[in-house]
Amino acid sequence: MPYETLLIIIADQVATVTLNRPKVLNALNAAMLRELDELFAELALDDDVRVILIAGAGGKAFAAGADIAEFAEVDPTSGEQLAGRAQRIFRRIETMGKPVIACIDGFALGGGCELAMACTLRLASPSARLGQPEIKLGIIPGYGGTQRLPRLVGRGAALKMILTGAIIDAAEAVRIGLADEMVPAEHLMERARELANLIASMPPLAVQAAMEAVGRGADLPLDEALALEATLFGQLWKTEDRREGIQAFLEKRHPVWVGH
Ligand code: COA
Repeated sequence: MPYETLLIIIADQVATVTLNRPKVLNALNAAMLRELDELFAELALDDDVRVILIAGAGGKAFAAGADIAEFAEVDPTSGEQLAGRAQRIFRRIETMGKPVIACIDGFALGGGCELAMACTLRLASPSARLGQPEIKLGIIPGYGGTQRLPRLVGRGAALKMILTGAIIDAAEAVRIGLADEMVPAEHLMERARELANLIASMPPLAVQAAMEAVGRGADLPLDEALALEATLFGQLWKTEDRREGIQAFLEKRHPVWVGH
């Protein structure tokens, strides 16, 4: 199905989604949010897709935030609805059970930074610039930023960014844990595909369980999180891939995963 604001390529079990409004630095407008919602619903169900990459078109930005041109129409009620809708879409991306890698070349600001934070991993080129500048518009991050940023970088570093609207570079983002790796721009997509292929070569149910344990566990008290880990660990012992993984190790051969 053709999309107005997104480009999609699926190859070798990896879907590459490009945010494609380069004239406005890939600002997330209502159409792009709707299309992300539809696309990720499809990708979640697509057995040919194991890992998803998200990048921005144009070489200047991943996404420079929510589309500020659309803010003129927003009032308190629709503002709350807008935040809720975007939060639900990003949450779906975060919990879809397939790794999503944000490939950040240039600006990832506001909603762009929030989308990147909802991804499983974040790679940044040296020209990446990340921030939550909403405070300068008289608002706060509304697409999850006040919640995911402190979970990723700690409360102090998050509040420093959110209260000052500071835009940080890639090295600083890696230092505080907002980005996972800095990669030269010319190798950014290649490195993302390499990581994606590596993860796609792992048994999918174990990948899904690991993401669920880390994702859900992070928001639970430790004892409940450990119980969740034990449950998921136990469930994997039912799988054919667990049997194959251990058998292959003992037989000193490469495992052949069947995905169940
Ligand atoms: N929403 C809508 N349009 C945006 C946008 C956004 N979030 N960010 C950039 N654009 C548009 C600009 O208006 C400009 O359009 P124009 O060519 O029609 O004037 C175009 O994208 C290029 O941006 P420009 O500001 O000229 O580029 P720059 O290199 O001088 O500055 C930024 C880049 C990212 C620093 C600057 O665009 C900016 O501050 N954007 C807003 C960031 C923000 O506050 N995001 C949070 C929103 S809640």
